[in-house]
Order: sequence, then structure tokens, then C-alpha cells
Amino acid sequence: MPGAGPGHPVPGGPVGGEFAHTGHPRTAGPHGTLRLRFLQDVRVRQPHDTDVQVHGDDPAAMRRQYRAAGLTEADLAADPCTQFAHWFADAVRATGSGLLTEPNAMVVSTVGADGAPSSRTVLLKGYDQRGFVFYSNYDSRKSRELAGNPRTCLLFPWHPMARQVIVSGTATRVSAEETAAYFHSRPHGSQLGARASRQSTVVASREVLEQRYAEQAARFPEGTQVPVPDHWGGFRVEAHTVEFWQGRENRLHDRLRYTRSGAGWSVDRLAP
Ligand SMILES: Cc1cc2nc3c(=O)[nH]c(=O)nc-3n(C[C@H](O)[C@H](O)[C@H](O)COP(=O)(O)O)c2cc1C
Repeated sequence: MPGAGPGHPVPGGPVGGEFAHTGHPRTAGPHGTLRLRFLQDVRVRQPHDTDVQVHGDDPAAMRRQYRAAGLTEADLAADPCTQFAHWFADAVRATGSGLLTEPNAMVVSTVGADGAPSSRTVLLKGYDQRGFVFYSNYDSRKSRELAGNPRTCLLFPWHPMARQVIVSGTATRVSAEETAAYFHSRPHGSQLGARASRQSTVVASREVLEQRYAEQAARFPEGTQVPVPDHWGGFRVEAHTVEFWQGRENRLHDRLRYTRSGAGWSVDRLAP
């Protein structure tokens, strides 16, 4: 697949270009100076600067390249999982410079029986051709809503890279074995917390929460096996569509959307 490997440049954003060319006077007294400092701070964190550090190229050339570069149909992998792997690798690399934190944080949206949507952040814990996996409390609001309507939407907000990925799909629970394997890989305290918290319910006070945790900690001290709670496990979201959004200059962003088509995928370009 041409041009979209993990070494593909991490683009900067149109935001960076605008900040870099605001034209504010550089010696305008204390306020101007403050402003300049702010702009410099922002400038230092430009994604294309990070990319330069990663690839060791000429910064000026890299910037020009970014301004011309985008996401083309020819860049795309044959399937969205492979394309996601390339962008996720870029996002992980961007954490090295502090540009991005928690590249696996994604917003999951669900719809309740009353038609009201709700969203929240969760952490992606795995992905492959079968789908995107996250873990949660099976009695939580999101899980109850998914039980009634498994259609869901995942959004990866990689703003500092001027990128987002949006997955529309269907969620199913992962096997008990898959849940157990992940649950036992978590820190002991996180395992206790999953047992202690009745996620999404009203809790009378912080003390009640800590009391429930203390009960679990007494039952399952460090070094003992913490049983997987019945009310906790994973979801795998099988994608119907996956959109890759790349910010470009003048708001002429690139939006390329994969849609399942038989055994493969078709790709459409959407207007920004
Ligand atoms: C960065 C971040 C990561 C989170 N990761 C998870 C997660 O992996 N699983 C989870 O159940 N909640 C996670 N949460 C908490 C959820 O956002 C949410 O508060 C919780 O799942 C309850 O949501 P619900 O009441 O809508 O079901 C995370 C929150 C943040 C800010």
C-alpha cells in the first residue's frame, strides 16, 4: 500500500499555520510580549515540528510538505483496520513529544430507548479486522443502551494532529475468556475498582465509594486473584463505516470514508 505506512509524516494542522502567521506585533509592550510568548508556546508544540524531530528532516521543507500534503485515495490502505493502524502508530508517536496524550482515548456514543444520544470517553484496548474493543461495566448506562440498540459510534479526537477517525458500527460483547484475560492484565487496584463501582448509578457520597473499595481490598488483598465481576466486560465494535478526517488549509479538509461492500470496502470522499 503506497505512502500510508507508519513512516508516513504526521501532519500538522491548519491551526498551527494560522497561529504562526497571526501578524501580531512582536514588540508591542508588555501585553504584546505576553501574546508573543503564548504564540511561541503554541508554535513550539506544532505537529509538524514534532514530525521533523521524529524524521530528522529540514523543518522548512517539512512545513511546505505539510501544507501541500493531505490524505488521498491513493494513500489509503485497502481496509480501514490497516489504515487505522497507520494513523494510530502516528498518534502513538506523537505522544513521545507530549503533543498528544492517551491516543487510545475515544468517545463512544450510544442511543437510549427514548432516542436520546449519550457520549463518553473510554479507552481502546484492542483492534483488529474484527473490530475495536473497549471494556466497561455491563450495568452502566452505555451498556444498557447498547443492549437495547447495539448501533454505536466511536470517535478518536486527535486534535493536535488535525485528525479524527469516526467509526460507525455494531457492538457485541466479547467472550468471557477474552474479558478475563484483559481483566487480569489490569493493575490490582483497577480490578478492585471494577468490582467496587456500580457504574452510572447515584452514589450517596465519596465515602460510600471508598468503603466499597475497602471491602473488596479486604476480600482480595494484593497477591490474590481477583475474580472478574459478572457485571464487567468488553465490547467489540464491528465497523460499518470508518471515516478518516485530515485537516487541511482553508477548511478544505480531506474526508475519506470506507463503507462495507460485500466482502470488501468501498471508499467515498466527503465534502468538508
Ligand atoms: C480518558 C478517559 C478514559 C476512560 N476510560 C474508560 C473505559 O475504558 N471504560 C469505562 O467504562 N469508562 C471509562 N471512562 C469513564 C467514562 O467516560 C464514563 O464516565 C463511564 O464509563 C460511565 O459512562 P456511562 O454512565 O455513560 O455508561 C473514561 C474516562 C476518561 C476521561
